Amino acid sequence: MSMQKKNGIVLGLGLALAVAGPAQGSAGSDVEMMDPDVSHHDRASIRKGAELYAQYCVGCHSLKYLRYKRLAEDVGADKQWLEEEIMRGDKDPYDHITSSMDPQDGVEWFGLAPPDLSLTARAQGEDWIYTYLNTFYVDEDSDVGYNNLVQEGTSMPHVLASLQGDQKAVRDDHGEVVDLEPVEGEEGRLSQEEYREMTAQITAFLSYAAEPIRADRERMGVWVILFLIVFTGVFYLLYKEYWRDIKK
Ligand code: HEC
Repeated sequence: MSMQKKNGIVLGLGLALAVAGPAQGSAGSDVEMMDPDVSHHDRASIRKGAELYAQYCVGCHSLKYLRYKRLAEDVGADKQWLEEEIMRGDKDPYDHITSSMDPQDGVEWFGLAPPDLSLTARAQGEDWIYTYLNTFYVDEDSDVGYNNLVQEGTSMPHVLASLQGDQKAVRDDHGEVVDLEPVEGEEGRLSQEEYREMTAQITAFLSYAAEPIRADRERMGVWVILFLIVFTGVFYLLYKEYWRDIKK
């Protein structure tokens, strides 16, 4: 192959990558992500997050891999909690967490059926979910009245607006959104701190829901390592014992 041809191929590849690069990142990928600082072992937060989810989210979003009963066991709650806070209606503890929304209605109202959120924490990450819930801003051009920093053109309505209050975009000379600021006179019922805590709890719950076994596995891991350490000691003593006579 001639040198010229080779150069052509390298240049072509380079161009292809340069073009593909920016298109790959999701809309708003240069947005700085917020860290919810959540833990799989924080059962109180996960439990509170589940209650909030049942109150504000399950009307649209199912969690089809998680059963009510498993959730109750994992957060150390009883049947009464399930019935009063989570299932609210004719659900069975052995059911998966389903939304009552007919997907077809979703398509009619939002242009698409609200997605199942079982795996969102793994697909998008905890930071993304937390940032998503915190960066809705008023957008007159949007059908739902809001846009979102990490999901440009989102079709999810800002269902927590009455709690957070409204935010508006601060734009630079090129019309790019550089920051969000509260809209005066449209404050929410919660302070910023309270809203962040609430959305961190919802994020903790979604993160748990994406991998319910994780906390168990990590606890188990500690025991496995302790076991290995103890038995290394035991086997070392045995080794010394066996070789004592042979070495003589
Ligand atoms: C009124 C219906 C509705 C409610 C209630 C609702 N959502 Fe949504 N949500 C949607 C729709 C529609 C989308 C799809 C947005 C899109 O892709 O443009 C969505 C998307 C999402 C996504 C992004 C999923 C992804 O991978 O793109 C997350 C995360 C999410 N919702 C979380 C929540 C949480 C948490 C709550 C409760 C606080 C909630 N939603 C309540 C309708 C709803």
